[in-house]
Amino acid sequence: MTKDVWRIGVAGLGTVGAGLLNFLSDRPGFAPAGGQAVITGVSARSRSRPRPFDISNLPWFDDPVALAASPDNDLFVELIGGSDGPAKAAVEAALNAGKPVVTANKALIAEHGAELALLAESKGVPLLFEAAVMGGTPAVKMLREAMVGDDIKSVAGILNGTCNYILTEMDSGGRAFADVLAEAQRLGYAESDPTMDVGGFDAAHKISILAALAFGCAPTYAAAEIEGIDGIELLDIKLARDLGYRVKLVASADRSSDGVLVRVHPSLAPINHPLAQAGGALNALFIEGTRIGTIYIQGPGAGAGPTAAAVAADIADVMTGAVRPVFQRPAGELKPFTPVDPSKSMGRAYLRFLVKDEPGVIAAVSETLAEAGVSIESFLQKPVENADGVPIVLTTHAVAESVLTAAIDRIANLPSVLERPRLLRIARI
Ligand SMILES: NC(=O)c1ccc[n+]([C@@H]2O[C@H](COP(=O)([O-])OP(=O)(O)OC[C@H]3O[C@@H](n4cnc5c(N)ncnc54)[C@H](OP(=O)(O)O)[C@@H]3O)[C@@H](O)[C@H]2O)c1
Repeated sequence: MTKDVWRIGVAGLGTVGAGLLNFLSDRPGFAPAGGQAVITGVSARSRSRPRPFDISNLPWFDDPVALAASPDNDLFVELIGGSDGPAKAAVEAALNAGKPVVTANKALIAEHGAELALLAESKGVPLLFEAAVMGGTPAVKMLREAMVGDDIKSVAGILNGTCNYILTEMDSGGRAFADVLAEAQRLGYAESDPTMDVGGFDAAHKISILAALAFGCAPTYAAAEIEGIDGIELLDIKLARDLGYRVKLVASADRSSDGVLVRVHPSLAPINHPLAQAGGALNALFIEGTRIGTIYIQGPGAGAGPTAAAVAADIADVMTGAVRPVFQRPAGELKPFTPVDPSKSMGRAYLRFLVKDEPGVIAAVSETLAEAGVSIESFLQKPVENADGVPIVLTTHAVAESVLTAAIDRIANLPSVLERPRLLRIARI
């Protein structure tokens, strides 16, 4: 499907849309495959909103669906966002019109990727979404193309820059979650409604997409087990550091003979581990293949420049004429997603208890853990100023999650334990 001129409709002129229009005005005649990319229509909510580029000469569409279906463009770029609503309607309209689609929309692909892939492939057109995961860092292409000859066992990493920024600032500045979040919102690193980011949902969208690409199954966001960073206390960041760890929001997808386990939760990474070293708004990803071994990539996961570069790379792919399956294999042959019960998974853990300052407490906690079958790896008691009690913290050897939660339930009921113990997993990478 090569052409001399590719006429592109762009819906969404916010951070990423602005980045794309600036990119194309900096690179007039962007012609990665010989043909030239030209914007022939734009859509956003407000036509009169001041924008960091001139749209006065571009055909304007109030309705992104009309833009998507317009015969005046050959390629549709969706940069609105949201799993449903105008973004989904416009992508469907473009695909139904037999047009290639490029999107940065992780919510759309994670929640409707399987049905959209069927539609795209039935029309013989590409549906590309490199910018949807890790922004400018090419994770999607790596899994869909470069590693398609391998059998991937796991993918895991830091997929949300806002959470990584907040955790890094809490760790380096000794500041509480709410304080850092408020600053991140002032600086524009976090949305005014930060739920998608700090609740772990954005990372869950991204890891669901990576799981589909890695394992050849339909993306199944609904099966992801999700815990965000909104419950992280500065005390845990400090105690984890004393034990030689940093707290990171880790998203992971593991394949086993039972199925696929997709999880997002705050996890401890050893301080010298690349994940612990990836600070600020960086994203980082480990991919473990059966033949290739382990690959590590790290880079910017958001921002106008990096994300627009990924969108431009997808546009270039469309212009070269290549059409690959949307995920790892044709949409009609995607394997069913069989979720694995997280309570059966094995792993090491960090447990923090707030206890009464009285003799015999540590013995009671240790005995309860031993009776439940949880073996202690290290133990730390620090004199932290806290009028309500004394925190003690320990790490465990690998244990089944169901055994661990049963032990926590029992310890929470001990008379000398003042609140439910805090559990953080230790990253398995
Ligand atoms: N920001 C990042 O760094 C980044 C990174 C990776 C992926 N993404 C993804 O890229 C997409 C866009 O993100 P963004 O940060 O650029 O969002 P944004 O700044 O909020 O921009 C959204 C754009 O969509 C337009 N829009 C909203 N509702 C619309 C409607 N009903 N019809 C037409 N246009 C509509 C808005 O119009 P107005 O401008 O008139 O309000 C705005 O231009 C999302 O899927 C996001 O998840 C973003």
